[in-house]
Amino acid sequence: MPTLVAFFEAKSYDREYFTALPAAAELDLRFLEHRLGAGTVATAQGAAAVCCFVNDRLDRGVLQRLRELGVRHVALRCAGFNNVDLAAARELGLAVTRVPAYSPHAVAEHTVALLLTLNRKIHRAHNRVREQNFSLAGLVGFDLHGKTAGIVGTGRIGRLTAEILRGFGMTVLATDPCPDAAWAAQHQVAYVAKSGLFARSDVVSLHSPLTPDTHHLVNEPTLAAMKRGAYLVNTSRGKLIDTAALIEALKSGRLGGVALDVYEEEEGVFFEDHSDHVLADDELARLLTFPNVLITAHQAFLTREALGEIARVTTENLRRGAVAQPFLDGTQLA
Ligand code: NAI
Repeated sequence: MPTLVAFFEAKSYDREYFTALPAAAELDLRFLEHRLGAGTVATAQGAAAVCCFVNDRLDRGVLQRLRELGVRHVALRCAGFNNVDLAAARELGLAVTRVPAYSPHAVAEHTVALLLTLNRKIHRAHNRVREQNFSLAGLVGFDLHGKTAGIVGTGRIGRLTAEILRGFGMTVLATDPCPDAAWAAQHQVAYVAKSGLFARSDVVSLHSPLTPDTHHLVNEPTLAAMKRGAYLVNTSRGKLIDTAALIEALKSGRLGGVALDVYEEEEGVFFEDHSDHVLADDELARLLTFPNVLITAHQAFLTREALGEIARVTTENLRRGAVAQPFLDGTQLA
């Protein structure tokens, strides 16, 4: 009998890429549109595994309930795992797997797309031209060539972003508790302390995971130390930035612009159409009023290649979990 998998927060593209895989025929994927959390965990009834994404909440209480319902495997179809209490999963004997690197290129390329759009004001130009307003007033950007970029976190995505920015002729600084000296020498990237990076960069891009250490890594003091008019780009996790401090830095002109693919309180907002509703989040509403703030709704991963790889690795992990075989290399967290 195929393994029943409760597939939370399923979107049209998830269905398309998962059901296209022949191997998925061995699984009974129950696509659910809602997120997993304390209020919805009962919908995993009867499933041997759950398949989750970035905003599903897998805290101790939810994991405990999943275990009671008979779930044995949490298959994340994403790289980040800050939403899972791994210690609780281990204690409960729940296996947790993820897709560590489905396409770092997708995220790095989206990061640079955001930076170029923000700097050259493409979003504003596009809207203007469609209104037959061909004025260029207010659309002045700056050459990236010769400027300094600061990369916070030189893992898979941070390294690729740095390499693309080096291609533009930028000086690239980086900070990471585990620096990769050989890579830095090869690409002429200089590791510096976090304080130096924020003080010297014209563009800061965040690529570190969300951990207790990196929560609000960008806060009032770090923003105050940044160059006046610098840009900040975040395609990693929203909680790396203290949003209230960010808004103040935008209001004061300290920051020249901000591009976000992730937002501190995105859970319950991103990935859904709220165009008919009143936006209850005042900070998000305020961010949306700035002409120099660009927001995409956590779409950096959204390429054909990434979706194909996410479906392939997750399906393989779900199949192996069902027959108690080792998971794919590097995918198991607990
Ligand atoms: P990775 O694990 O390859 O690299 C993370 C790097 O951050 C490591 O080198 C680590 O040493 C470093 N780091 C840890 N603590 C740090 C700190 N305090 N300061 C500076 N660096 C620190 O991860 P990868 O694949 O590069 O992904 C990075 C993040 O991107 C993920 O954790 C995830 O949150 C986010 N992401 C966002 C996506 C999106 O669609 N917007 C898609 C995929 C990942």
